[in-house]
Order: sequence, then C-alpha cells, then structure tokens
Amino acid sequence: MPTEEPLVLGIETSCDETGVGIVRGHTLLADALASSVDQHARFGGVVPEVASRAHLEAIVPTMRRALDEAKVTLADIDAIAVTAGPGLAGALLVGVAAAKGYALATDKPIYGINHLAAHVAVDTLEHGPLPEPAIALLVSGGHSSLLLVDDMTAGVTPLGATIDDAAGEAFDKVARLLGLGFPGGPVIDRRARDGDAGAIAFPRGLTAPKDLAAHRYDFSFSGLKTAVARWVEARQRAGDTIPVADVAASFQEAVCDVLTAKAIAACRANGVETLVIGGGVAANSRLRALASLRAEKHGIRVRVPRPNLCTDNGAMVAALGSHLVAAGVAPSRLDLPADSAMPLTVVTA
Ligand code: KG4
Ligand code: ZN
Repeated sequence: MPTEEPLVLGIETSCDETGVGIVRGHTLLADALASSVDQHARFGGVVPEVASRAHLEAIVPTMRRALDEAKVTLADIDAIAVTAGPGLAGALLVGVAAAKGYALATDKPIYGINHLAAHVAVDTLEHGPLPEPAIALLVSGGHSSLLLVDDMTAGVTPLGATIDDAAGEAFDKVARLLGLGFPGGPVIDRRARDGDAGAIAFPRGLTAPKDLAAHRYDFSFSGLKTAVARWVEARQRAGDTIPVADVAASFQEAVCDVLTAKAIAACRANGVETLVIGGGVAANSRLRALASLRAEKHGIRVRVPRPNLCTDNGAMVAALGSHLVAAGVAPSRLDLPADSAMPLTVVTA
C-alpha cells in the first residue's frame, strides 16, 4: 500500500498578512488568512509595528481556522514550515516564534523557509511539479527579481532585480498620487480596464541599449513613478481634470512591458521553456495577459498561480515546505533565526 504524502503546515507573517496553509503533497487542504491591510491604509504603506501586533492577535485564530478547514489536528501534521525571511523583522519573529512553539509542543520538524522561493513554489499547488530549469519573475510590494530555478531545494540563482522601487511599490505610489488608496495594485488594475494603455508614453526603465549592457535583467521603476507624478502635476497646474483611467492604463502598460520583455529575454538566453510568475503583482490582469501573449511566440509556457495564491499566504510556505520534505532536505534547527535580509540563494534556514 503506498504511504500517504506528508501533511505540511505553513506559517506566513513576513508583511501584513497572517497566513496558515496546510498541504498534502501538492494538494492544498487549507489556506486561512487574516490581513491587517486596512490598518495600514491611512498611512499609505505597511507600518511594521502595527503589522507585528496584528500578527500576534491573529496567529492562533488563523491556525485554528486552517486546521478546521483541512479537518486535521496538530498531531496529524508531519512538518511545520515558516517564513524565516526576508521581510519585516518584528513581523517575521511572530511567525517564527509561533512555529517553534508548535514544533516543540508536537515534536515535529521545523523548516524555516525563504519567502521569495515560496512565491515560486506555490505554483505547484495549481500546476503540479515545476519543470526545472525555469525562469521565475517575482514581483511583489517588496521585491522585483528575475531568477533562474535549477533546483528549488538547493537555492535559486538571481539574474536581476530592481535597482530602486519594487514593481508593487510603484503601483502603490502611483495609486497614492492618483488618490486611489492603498494597496494600489488592485485598484489600478481595475481602473486601467477603462483606460487607453497607449494614451501616454511613459518611460520604460533600463531598456535603452546603454542600460542593457550592465542591467540586462534589472528593473527600475522610480523614474516611471516620477514621470507619472510630473505628468499629473502639469495637468493639475493647468486646471485640467486628470484622465485617471488613461494614466492608470499607460502606467500599468509601462510596468508590464518591461517585466515581460526581460522575463522572456531571460528564458530565451538560458534556453528555458517555463516562466513562472509569482508575488502580489502577478495578480495583475495585464501582466498575465501580456506574458502569455509574448511567451507563446517563443514556445515558452507561462505558469501563474490564481490571484489569491499570488499575494502573501500560508499555502505558499506549506508548498515549499512540502517540496523540501519530499526531497529529503534536513529540517532547520529549533533555534533558527528570523532573517529580515535572507538572501535568495538560501531556501531553508
Ligand atoms: O506579495 P505581496 O502580497 O506582498 C509582498 O510580499 O510585498 O504583494 C503586495 C503587492 C502590493 O504592492 C500590491 O499593490 C500588489 O502586490 N498587487 C498588485 C495587484 N494585486 C496586488 N499589483 C498590480 N496589480 C494587481 N492586481
Ligand atoms: Zn510576498
């Protein structure tokens, strides 16, 4: 009789979402989430102290919900995975401390894992094992990276990253200057649907031949954000109304154009046929459509998890934990640290 695949629980507290996910192999059984996003809205960004306190209040109830949803008990769990970094130090500590407590109480192995690698691994819950090598485009509120994934258990190779703002940060800042609230990505995505993406020619950072030499796979969104701000200010000074939908669509197009062009170039240069996109910005409808359109021309398959698996959640941590357990990777020590600057080359702490 085949033995059952291990039951792995994942805890995520690196930013403003408290997530607890439970998977068996590649099968998602529960994905409980509590978000403190509303508490940060009036500040226009995540306030670390507020996030830590919210995690502290949410962690136990979220854990209970996940266990109920999966119809299992803590004693049934085979391993506990937790985001050890990168992220907000205080926020990470809440999850890591909770995971240690549960691991100690149940005598189960603990895996301190890399949040960014988890954003890639989560796709296996929807599309099955990831063919390796693959190129991963990770775009969130804190990160924008292009990675070569040769062997997820051993670490990923960074090819490029943003040299200033992250893609999600650009969405959030542009939404703020358009008065659209926080977080900016979902609302810009929505408003852009009624706009003309070709209305305003906003700059495409690090795509000029002189920049490509040193920054082939790097991104820059700060110049784009400034260009949008200047364009809006000039209209405001002239007393004109701002065509919000056109600005949103043109800005979104500039971001998605650069992200997809560089991701496809990385696939082609490395002879890779699979592109996986993860992180909060991967929920963007235009990014998903443009990536598929461009990839198809080169015989590249694009894998993007459904939007609620793209943003931070516990299922992604459980997914990576499950992959490590299946590969026979040794667990972390019980005194594993939370590492706010955990490098991408480290998958498990
Ligand atoms: O991965 P995530 O939930 O948290 C981080 O690790 O940062 O990503 C959050 C980011 C925010 O900047 C948010 O504005 C952006 O993802 N985002 C989007 C969309 N949904 C969320 N950006 C563009 N389009 C979306 N539909
Ligand atoms: Zn994230």
